[in-house]
Amino acid sequence: MMDIVSSYNEWDHLEEIILGIPDYACIPQDEPAYRSKLDAADLNTFTAGLRKDETIQKARVQFDNLARILEYQCNVKLLRPEKIDYSKSIKTPFFEIENQNCAACPRDTLLVIGNEIIETPMSNRARYFESMAYRKILNDIWEKDKNMLWTNAPKPTMADSMYNLDFPWDDKSKERKDWIESYKYVTNETEPVFDAADVLRLGKDLVVQNSFTTNRKGIEWLRRHTKSRGYRVHEIHFPGDLSPVHIDCSLIPLVPPTNERKGILMNCPERPIAPADKERIFSGSNWEIQSAPMPFTTKIPELCQSSYWLCMNLLLVSPDRAIVEETEIPTINYLESLGIKCLRVPFRDVYGFGGGIHCVTSDIRRRGDRKSYFPNFD
Ligand code: NVA
Repeated sequence: MMDIVSSYNEWDHLEEIILGIPDYACIPQDEPAYRSKLDAADLNTFTAGLRKDETIQKARVQFDNLARILEYQCNVKLLRPEKIDYSKSIKTPFFEIENQNCAACPRDTLLVIGNEIIETPMSNRARYFESMAYRKILNDIWEKDKNMLWTNAPKPTMADSMYNLDFPWDDKSKERKDWIESYKYVTNETEPVFDAADVLRLGKDLVVQNSFTTNRKGIEWLRRHTKSRGYRVHEIHFPGDLSPVHIDCSLIPLVPPTNERKGILMNCPERPIAPADKERIFSGSNWEIQSAPMPFTTKIPELCQSSYWLCMNLLLVSPDRAIVEETEIPTINYLESLGIKCLRVPFRDVYGFGGGIHCVTSDIRRRGDRKSYFPNFD
């Protein structure tokens, strides 16, 4: 019986993947973790509840097109989550909300490390039950793949005590800049929290962004959890990002290292890696860090929760092939100059659902095994 779950990095030949869905997607109610992700302009203007049918239909067209490309052009086995009605309210002993979020972005909810899938301890109340959309998929795989490890990290309470309620919400304010520069975020250190999309998987090394969605306790949880299997967890910061959420618009691997040459990681030029982190993690490693080109446009949909750096949010389906949003011409030209062929897909109608092409997927299996690309830590 073959192993179904096996993925150690972001570039090996992709064989099986989960792709999110836009069905029943909602705009979350005001809550600390959601508020911190919004632009100043959106802060007081949004209305929670089910997204417009037309918006969902438009996103569905682009999701389904991506599905066809993955299945028929890239020969990747595709899994889709269950449709759950996110317009329903939820109530726990610690909070109550009128509606939830969506199942568009499995990259945040499920962390795949080798043969293990971790349901992550997220910090948005609207996403409290989000991993349930993948329970059938996880259960089916677990029955068939006797080596799969299925883990649910300690679920945070999401009580008020978990958040810095005095966080400066205005992302243009000096106070906000000061908080971010001292690595103080909307979630505090009361309980471990992390989103899978804050974790960059580079073989034996996991580079994890301390952010709004991942606190130091969450990073420590992951460190202890993976240590006995020889993983090394490195905390990283991008102090230029005043809404630090998810590493996949800040640092992305493009070319894997070989014996002949270093690999290439693309770093967002507006969010350089903190110098001390760069020195500690990457000096002596097999990686060279290059600056990403500017996006094609700085326009993003309202309530996007992401920035125009979604231009970096691409999916490598093998070391020489990537799926990229079709209008991101500077990114496409840069990738092609590195010998990476780009499959271009329209995806801007999905951006408002929480992310780009990388966010809406979660690897299940890539060919290849675990390697070290950091001789400095061997
Ligand atoms: N925080 C990132 C989003 C990552 C999907 C950004 O806004 O650029």
